[in-house]
Amino acid sequence: MTAPTLLLHFEDEHESALKLARAAGLELAKIERHHFPDGELRLLLPVSLPESVVILRTLDHPNEKLLELLLAARTARELGARHLTLVAPYLAYMRQDVAFQPGEAVSQRIVGRFLADLFDAVITVDPHLHRVATLQEAVPVPRAIALTGAALLADLIAERRQRPLLVGPDQESAQWIAQAAVRHGFDHAVCRKVRHGDRAVEIELPPIDVAGRAVVLLDDVASTGQTLARAARLLLATSAASVDVAVTHALFAGDALQVILDAGVGEVWSTDCIRHPSNAVSVAPLIAAALSGTTH
Ligand code: R5P
Repeated sequence: MTAPTLLLHFEDEHESALKLARAAGLELAKIERHHFPDGELRLLLPVSLPESVVILRTLDHPNEKLLELLLAARTARELGARHLTLVAPYLAYMRQDVAFQPGEAVSQRIVGRFLADLFDAVITVDPHLHRVATLQEAVPVPRAIALTGAALLADLIAERRQRPLLVGPDQESAQWIAQAAVRHGFDHAVCRKVRHGDRAVEIELPPIDVAGRAVVLLDDVASTGQTLARAARLLLATSAASVDVAVTHALFAGDALQVILDAGVGEVWSTDCIRHPSNAVSVAPLIAAALSGTTH
C-alpha cells in the first residue's frame, strides 16, 4: 500500500495548512526554518517522505519564499518525494507579463519557469493572467490549476447585500466580475484604469447609473489600495448608496487598508489565500477538491 500524501507547511501558515489538511484528508507535517545571523536560511524537512508530497506556500512577500521553495522542493526530492505539488493560493510575480521597456525582466515567465523546474503540479487561486490565456503558459508544469475565488466572494456578497451592483475597477477585473455576476444575476460593470505609477492611478467610471446602489468593488488583488480607493471615491461622488470591497488576495501593502477605508468604503472582505483580518471566506474546500485530482 502506498503511503498517503503528505502536506508540508511552514509555521506561519499553520492555520491555513490545518484547514487544508482537514478538508483534503491529508497528513500534515512542518518544515522547520532557521535564520542564521547573516540572514541565510536553514530548512529541516521530515526525514522520510512519501512518494506524493504537497507543499503549501502562499507567495505574498515572495522573495524569500521563492528561495524557501527552491530549498524545500530539492530536499523533498532527495528524501523520496516523486510527485511534488505546490499549493500557492497567491501566486506572485504574475502581473509583469511583458517587458514594457527594453531591458525589463518579464518576471511572470521567469518565476513561472523556476516553479515549473521544481514541481510537477501547481495549484493557485485567481492568478493575475492578463495578456496570457492559461496558467500553464505562465507556469509550464504538467498540471497547472487555476481556481477562482469569485464564486465564494459572490456568495458572500449575496448574503451581505441586497441587489448589489458589482463593479470591477479596471478592464483586467472583467473576468472575475463576469464569473461572480453570472452566479447570482448581479448587475455589473467595469471601469477603465490608467496607471501612472505605483500609487498613481486614474479611473473612469462605466456609463451606468450608480445612484442609490449598494456597490461592491470586486478585484483579484489589492496592493497599495489606490485602485479601489480611487474607484470608491468616484462611485460615492456619483451618489452610490454604499461601497464595499471584495478581493481574492489581501496583499494590503503598508497603509492600504486605511487608504481604502478613508475613501469611504464600508466593509472589506477577502478570501484566506493570504491571512488578513479581512478574511471572510476560506478557499480550503476549493483547493482540497483540486488536490484530489492531482495527488497520487
Ligand atoms: C491590477 O490590474 C490588479 O488587478 C489590481 O487592480 C492592482 O494590482 C491593484 O493595485 P493597487 O492596490 O496598488 O492599486
